[in-house]
Amino acid sequence: MKTVVRLALVDPHDTSRSSLKSLMLGIDSIWLEAECSRYDFFFDVVTQTQPDIALVALDGDPAKGLALVARITQDVPTCNVLVISSSTEGSLILQAMRNGAKEFLSLPLKLEDVLTALERIRQTQLSRTGEAQVRSCQVITVAGAAGGVGCTSLAVNLGCVLARNERNSVVVIDLDFALGDSDVWLDIIPDYTIHDVSENISRVDYSLLKRSLTKHDCGVFLLPRPVQLDDSRSITPDTLKRVIALLKTSFTHLIIDISKNFGPVDMTALESANTVLMVTQLDLPCLRNVVRLMQYFETHEGLTDKIRILVNRVGLEDTQIGMNKALETIGREVYWQIPNDFATMVEARNNGVPLCTQAPRSKLTRSLEQLAQQLDQSANPKADEEKKPRKGLFSFLGSGK
Ligand SMILES: Nc1ncnc2c1ncn2[C@@H]1O[C@H](COP(=O)(O)OP(=O)(O)OP(=O)(O)O)[C@@H](O)[C@H]1O
Ligand SMILES: [Mg+2]
Repeated sequence: MKTVVRLALVDPHDTSRSSLKSLMLGIDSIWLEAECSRYDFFFDVVTQTQPDIALVALDGDPAKGLALVARITQDVPTCNVLVISSSTEGSLILQAMRNGAKEFLSLPLKLEDVLTALERIRQTQLSRTGEAQVRSCQVITVAGAAGGVGCTSLAVNLGCVLARNERNSVVVIDLDFALGDSDVWLDIIPDYTIHDVSENISRVDYSLLKRSLTKHDCGVFLLPRPVQLDDSRSITPDTLKRVIALLKTSFTHLIIDISKNFGPVDMTALESANTVLMVTQLDLPCLRNVVRLMQYFETHEGLTDKIRILVNRVGLEDTQIGMNKALETIGREVYWQIPNDFATMVEARNNGVPLCTQAPRSKLTRSLEQLAQQLDQSANPKADEEKKPRKGLFSFLGSGK
């Protein structure tokens, strides 16, 4: 399937048709080939225009709509039928699927649901045509066992390292609403923040999402914390889930730098992650917090298995606890170790230049590159076999590096 899909829609109701139309027109990866107000005419429209997707709104006349679904599926097999209805009745859904609908979407329509359905159809097409499977998005949430352990330094620089690979499209999300400083690391003065995205996500203003992300020269995108402290109130676990769902359709990696509150929004980011990097240093308060946090995470289903302990600033000073003693204290293996190099780290931050540009040969950068490789390998064991860059629905976001 092509990056831009051609879509035709039918809906006898003027109001819902026009809102469907504006939603579709707002999605860059969709080319609206035709719109139709009569079920009777739509089959001809489909055979003439041969769209990739036919969108059938059932509310006008469910029986006619369902018959149309069956006819299109049978006679135009290259066309994927998507059905929309305000009813969630099981029998209607079942009939639509039996008649050949690929997806059933409920009204009111949410942008992320449409995008997820499109991505699913796209994946099915790819596997049917034998093309290499597109990698799914990896969500890596970076949490810290204490303030100042290096979460932001590592989240931003890991994002930059990943973004240098042209097969990746990476966004760093700053969830430290009060004091987040990821923009400083990238020397970016953003026009929009996660507050703007959250405020508008219910209005499915797609172009705003595009404008809200600031791209750094190394290829990484940033979704920064709100400008005003007050603005963080609009960001709820639900809005964050929607933002994540939306970004997942277009990026290969989301790196989320959470706050040290471990409040509901942070917990949502932890639950949404494929991998959680728990950053700690080898001192007593940190190690004690790791144990305490792990106990808390056990009360959240499925979370503990995703946690990877990352020890930062290894070799800092004599007062640190030895690695063996640390392992004994936390009772978990260490997934990764990052060496201590304050001068290099601080210079990169003060210059607003990521480590991979500022100090490409430093041990710090090498360690982050290997970490990126390790994360990619465990997420995509067959990644090396992939020949093609990921072409997400918004793949334009990752282009032009
Ligand atoms: N591997 C490292 N070697 C030396 N210094 C480091 C290393 N990692 C981070 N630092 C330094 O530690 C300090 C704190 O880092 P950072 O702001 O990334 O931590 P944080 O966990 O995000 O802090 P906060 O709790 O304020 O969000 C910074 O001055 C940074 O340069
Ligand atoms: Mg931070």
